[in-house]
Amino acid sequence: MSGPRVVRRTTPAARAPAASVGPVSGDHYFTAAPASADERRNLSVELAGRRLTVVTAGGVFSPDRVDVGTGVLLREAPTPPQTGRLLDLGCGWGPIALSLALRSPQAHVYAVDVNERALGLARTNAELAGAENVTACRPEEVPEGERFSAIWSNPPIRVGKAVLHEMLRTWLPRLEPGGAAYLVVQKNLGADSLQRWVVETLEGLRCERYAASRGFRLLTVSWTPA
Ligand SMILES: C[S@@+](CC[C@H](N)C(=O)[O-])C[C@H]1O[C@@H](n2cnc3c(N)ncnc32)[C@H](O)[C@@H]1O
Repeated sequence: MSGPRVVRRTTPAARAPAASVGPVSGDHYFTAAPASADERRNLSVELAGRRLTVVTAGGVFSPDRVDVGTGVLLREAPTPPQTGRLLDLGCGWGPIALSLALRSPQAHVYAVDVNERALGLARTNAELAGAENVTACRPEEVPEGERFSAIWSNPPIRVGKAVLHEMLRTWLPRLEPGGAAYLVVQKNLGADSLQRWVVETLEGLRCERYAASRGFRLLTVSWTPA
């Protein structure tokens, strides 16, 4: 069965190379190898109704707490599918992947990121939480044929539209029929225009506002084959 069709509208920005394609450097949280010191710290968090100690470090997204937007996604999204393949797109140190894995122990969770330090932390945190159903890897390491019954993401808006759109073009069409993605985006960082972009660009996918809280929109993306 073929998935939704991607309508490519190439703008000068969209022709720029995606950060996920080539080597990246510097000290943004979306860098492959952050320059800042890899000083590990323990953090006590509540995820999936459990109190957990996780490990974080500088050079990854929100190392001192579960991000407010991530919290909105985890609180507002519906119960994840209990089986199948689930994707945390842009996992950071892993709060979304851990929540999915603990809430759906029979499912397999892919946690992908371009930041190697984040991937190392996500693996450590899955191990500490006893979540054996997590694979934390770079995007290109996910087998091409994998399809997902759910994609949950706090996407990296700050990478810029060209990279963000390329990510969504790559992963959203990999939803299974009947599957759904949940994306949390700050209203002030373009949640509504992103919703319009999905509808106009990724033909066959629906994108709706599922919830709004604390200045964030939770968008849901789905497709049902005709
Ligand atoms: C806003 S952070 C969210 C991190 C984590 N999910 C959380 O909620 O704390 C977005 C993440 O996307 C990652 N990222 C950036 N570009 C990416 C890409 N092309 N593919 C996958 N992940 C990417 C960043 O490194 C970052 O960890």
